[in-house]
Amino acid sequence: MKIISIVGARPNFMKVTPIILEIYKHNKSITNDKNIIIHKLVHTGQHYDKNLSDIFFKQLKLPQPDIYLNVGSGSHAFQTAEIMKLFEKVLEEEKPDLVITVGDVNSTIACALVASKYYYSKVNENNNIRPYIAHVEAGLRSFDRQMPEEINRIITDNLSDLLFVTEKTGIDNLLREGISKDKIHFVGNTMIDTLLTFKERANESDILERLNLTSHDRNNLREYSLLTLHRPSNVDEEKSFKEIIEALRELSQYMPMIFPIHPRTSNSIEKFKLKSLFHYFKDNSIKISEINIIPPLGYIDFLCLMMNARIVLTDSGGIQEETTCLNVPCITLRNNTERPITIEEGTNILAGCKGEDILNAFNTQLNKNYKNSSPKYWDGKTAGRIVKVIIDFFKRKP
Ligand code: UD1
Repeated sequence: MKIISIVGARPNFMKVTPIILEIYKHNKSITNDKNIIIHKLVHTGQHYDKNLSDIFFKQLKLPQPDIYLNVGSGSHAFQTAEIMKLFEKVLEEEKPDLVITVGDVNSTIACALVASKYYYSKVNENNNIRPYIAHVEAGLRSFDRQMPEEINRIITDNLSDLLFVTEKTGIDNLLREGISKDKIHFVGNTMIDTLLTFKERANESDILERLNLTSHDRNNLREYSLLTLHRPSNVDEEKSFKEIIEALRELSQYMPMIFPIHPRTSNSIEKFKLKSLFHYFKDNSIKISEINIIPPLGYIDFLCLMMNARIVLTDSGGIQEETTCLNVPCITLRNNTERPITIEEGTNILAGCKGEDILNAFNTQLNKNYKNSSPKYWDGKTAGRIVKVIIDFFKRKP
């Protein structure tokens, strides 16, 4: 069996790593070469900065991509089309049995769309076949079609043959959309597999010392909040971006706010001339009542900051799940979430994007006690379940 996995943007790396490691584990365990899985990793190059891509390969020990498409940035249509053109050539060359896509980024939909229409003939076989498509993190829905990711999710799920679901709402959403029950597999969350693997290592990061958040030892940790913000709906339009920043500046009066910045948000700050609203961190210069901008972080440092934060504010999808797993209060700066389990069972609340609502959510979260929760199958064993389903699926195929 030959499998191609796709990565493109930052959140993809931690979702794919455990699956690849599990495939390697399978290959080591088998006695008959006929059952070996040939695996190739394709990186589309949607994210190409060192801090958004290379560092994750290094830290997660993700094998270097076998094929790098180098597409870079562009409009949605441009980026998706570039990936599609190049990925078709990959399929021509490789003729895989299965393409694994993860998450909801443009690389996800682009590759699923190409695979769904790419038919080829196998040696000694008459019928033309296409690669099967697996989607990891299927079924999540924000019900907000203005989010590019929502379109990517719906289409990718629709085209996929194996849909791996992280939380129960995913099953309900897929069934409602007419997806056949036997394609859906509730397996848990591979991003949480990675988190549980690296939690100990993250404790050894020196990021807290580098940012001057501890004096001498970790028992003297300063309370801080951690911010991530990069959704187009929050940062691309001046008025709404400014309103969010004003509210966050108010919150930074209570405790320093640490803000590893995404390039999209950096671009908006430049464009709208808002640099004076932030403090740009340089050695030993964290300001206690400011939003402190630092460069994007690697996985280990970011995990360390997240684990030790008093509170996390974010518009990311994955961070809502990671804070739930870490039992750290989270405020989501959006009007909806495709991950409702993080609210029902986890530490997350939706604040929306209005100044006053963000301030209220901050107070609510600081005064709430959360019990440790662990959503079903967020147990570090998801990749194992996925690889088992894949192997069984191909055993059943003629
Ligand atoms: C993408 C995903 C989003 C995910 C995010 C994680 C889509 C539609 N969006 O958004 O779901 O949460 O990744 O980070 O796929 N840029 C760089 N260096 C890079 C990559 C991007 O400077 O390595 C800048 C470019 O100016 C680019 C902009 O960031 O135009 C946006 O990048 P893009 O890949 O289009 O989307 P993200 O906002 O990163």
